[in-house]
This record gives sequence, structure tokens and C-alpha cells, in this order.
Amino acid sequence: MSCRDCLSRREFLTRSTLAVAGAAAVVAGCGDGQIGAGGATAPILLTPLSFKVSAVPALATVGQLAFVPTDSRFAVKRTGPTTFLAMTTICTHEGTMISIVNNNTSFECPNHGARYDSNGNVTRQPQASGSATNLPTYQTSYDVATDTLTISSNFTTT
Ligand code: FES
Repeated sequence: MSCRDCLSRREFLTRSTLAVAGAAAVVAGCGDGQIGAGGATAPILLTPLSFKVSAVPALATVGQLAFVPTDSRFAVKRTGPTTFLAMTTICTHEGTMISIVNNNTSFECPNHGARYDSNGNVTRQPQASGSATNLPTYQTSYDVATDTLTISSNFTTT
């Protein structure tokens, strides 16, 4: 039997995963607008994210930040030859996606101007009511043989 409008099992699972991820992102951004200051919710990773580090030119240099190529809700900093720090790029104030600025060495939120250093620590509070907290960071592992960085769903808030 053929069905022009039916989804394959794989397509169904892919769309379902994206829908759940989108719903999680929406949940993370809703409520009373006080995402920061104790109410922060980190983006939920349903499955680990993996990518080849060599595919991201900024990550060739220690200290540089780059968005994760397959999911811009996350950024990575190279901290050493085989070590990396992963964090969310969702502002902890009210959930706006932050930008990488200053030659890939820090973050700034375009909404109310909160700033974060390359480790995700707040360096300037929003120019609005409420406050931002440090960006949640995610556990990473790096496979030197395949040049693959994996970001796990385990995160830490400080
Ligand atoms: S949402 Fe980022 S500073 Fe307000």
C-alpha cells in the first residue's frame, strides 16, 4: 500500500523529536518572565549533540567561542587542545538568544544588554528589571581520533 501523504517511521520520529524540543524551548521561555534570578531553565537536550570540531573554524583557537553548528541554542569554547566548555545561548534574564561578540570572546544579549564572559558568567546585568544568572553549562566529551565533540544532556547551573 502506498500513501502519498503518510510519514515514514523515520520522518515521524524526526518530526516528533523536533516538536518535543520546540515545546521544551517554549516551556523554558514562558511563565512570569523571570527566567533568571533563580527561575532559569536550561534548554533540554533530548539526545546528545555531536559535531566535528574542525568544521567550526573558531574552535581551532583556545579561548574562542562558536555556536554549535546544528543547534544555536548552545555555544562551545575551546579551553585547551582536547577540552571544551559548552553552555546555552539562551539569556537567563528573559530567554532571548544571545550573540557572540568581541571577536568570539564573550556574549551580549540584544534584548536588555546583559553580558556574559566566555565561561558564561554574567559580567553586566540587564538594563531592565530582573536579573540574569550565569549561563548553564553542559558536560562535554571529545574523541580525538574522530575529532568529534559531544555535548551531553547533563547541565550545571551556578
Ligand atoms: S532577555 Fe537578555 S538581557 Fe533581557
